[in-house]
Amino acid sequence: MTKIVIQKRIENFNKVIDLNSDKSLSIRSLLISSQSFGVCKIKNLSMSGDILSTIKGLKKLGIKIKFKNNICYVYGNGLNGFNYKKNISIDAGNSGTFARLILGLLVKSPYEIKLIGDDSLSKRDFLRIITPLKKFGASFKKNKKNGLPIKITGTEFLKPIYYLEEKGSAQCKSSVIFAGLNTPGKTIIRAKKSRDHTELFLKYLKLPIKIKKKSNFDEIEVTGEKQFKSFNYVVPGDISSSAFFIVLTLLSKNSKLTIRNVNINPSRTGFLTIINKMGGKIKFINKRNLCGEQVADILVKSQKKFKSINCPVSLNSNAIDEFLVIFLLAAKASGVSSFRKLEELDKKESPRLQLASKILNKMGVKVRLGRGSIKIFGNPDLRIKRRILINNYRKDHRIFMTSVIASLSFGGKWTIEDLDSHKSSFPSFLKILRKIGYKF
Ligand code: S3P
Repeated sequence: MTKIVIQKRIENFNKVIDLNSDKSLSIRSLLISSQSFGVCKIKNLSMSGDILSTIKGLKKLGIKIKFKNNICYVYGNGLNGFNYKKNISIDAGNSGTFARLILGLLVKSPYEIKLIGDDSLSKRDFLRIITPLKKFGASFKKNKKNGLPIKITGTEFLKPIYYLEEKGSAQCKSSVIFAGLNTPGKTIIRAKKSRDHTELFLKYLKLPIKIKKKSNFDEIEVTGEKQFKSFNYVVPGDISSSAFFIVLTLLSKNSKLTIRNVNINPSRTGFLTIINKMGGKIKFINKRNLCGEQVADILVKSQKKFKSINCPVSLNSNAIDEFLVIFLLAAKASGVSSFRKLEELDKKESPRLQLASKILNKMGVKVRLGRGSIKIFGNPDLRIKRRILINNYRKDHRIFMTSVIASLSFGGKWTIEDLDSHKSSFPSFLKILRKIGYKF
């Protein structure tokens, strides 16, 4: 088992950094390319573990994918153009996004396909995807726990559906949109707000998708069976990866960071709204549009004081991957911060709400954990001196990186296990820490 030992805080840095590319958009760019006709060219694709699983999975489905000079070329065969042998199994590794989205593209597959994943992914809920995809006509074999492995067989006789997505899950919404692409007629989705990358991507390609934004829900209409030509795409930097460095800079002394070329899609920046409400100041500069997505450079500086927050639940879905680092800010805020209706956080790569409460406890921060809720009793003078061991038993990348940020921000003698876990989303995490001055 690999682990990292950190015994010193980090401070006094002033750097410009580039992050790895966005995971959600990298996976979507590969999957959507696989459905086009011709050769797509994807620049700046992330090379994290989840994307490698996506590439391996698509190759198994008969999609040719090549790299030349760091550009990824995907040879699409059109909608439902997969070409594979009987009895194949696809290994999604740790990637919930790939696993759930690919199922949407398999609703028309003639043979049974088995989907497997690592220990953490196998424990996650797939009923949320199976239920709507069955309505299209696909059939499934699954275990009682609704986890992996599952087997899917598609049908030629797909029917469009009306789907009410109430969890705020972009994976569920996107999987249904993908199934809709392969289905004749109009698939209609009423979805609780969540990241809208799939919708923006299809709009960028001028595919028949209509989106009506309502206050809590979006209404999406996809017209299926419209073939489309290959395209070029450039993936921007990952806002979720930037969150670790934004919080580290806010919490460190005398430091300043510019993070270049980050996707600032408003459906992903909920954590910046939270930081702002807690008194943190972050600036976007050089805003621009890149392949249908908003991109900017982010400017952040150290800050001494933070206010506690009663976090509006309307931000939950848009900040879902960033709550762990937000909890670190709450640990330093003056007053009690409260976060509610976060049941989905316990359904991620690990039960994150519960693990966050354990880590905060180890840090000497008082917390009160409820059902889907957490209260964090902040301490503006928080300094850690004790020894802390984090055994990241589900190998959750965000638990690993959050623990590293906590140790570098608050001190203490930390041993953090499962170092390799960060590679599933952010392989250059340690390299960037070294760049801003940390010596491991
Ligand atoms: C993702 C959606 C979110 C997020 C995950 C990536 C996506 O999951 O947590 O890291 O790319 O669609 P849910 O859809 O389960 O909320």
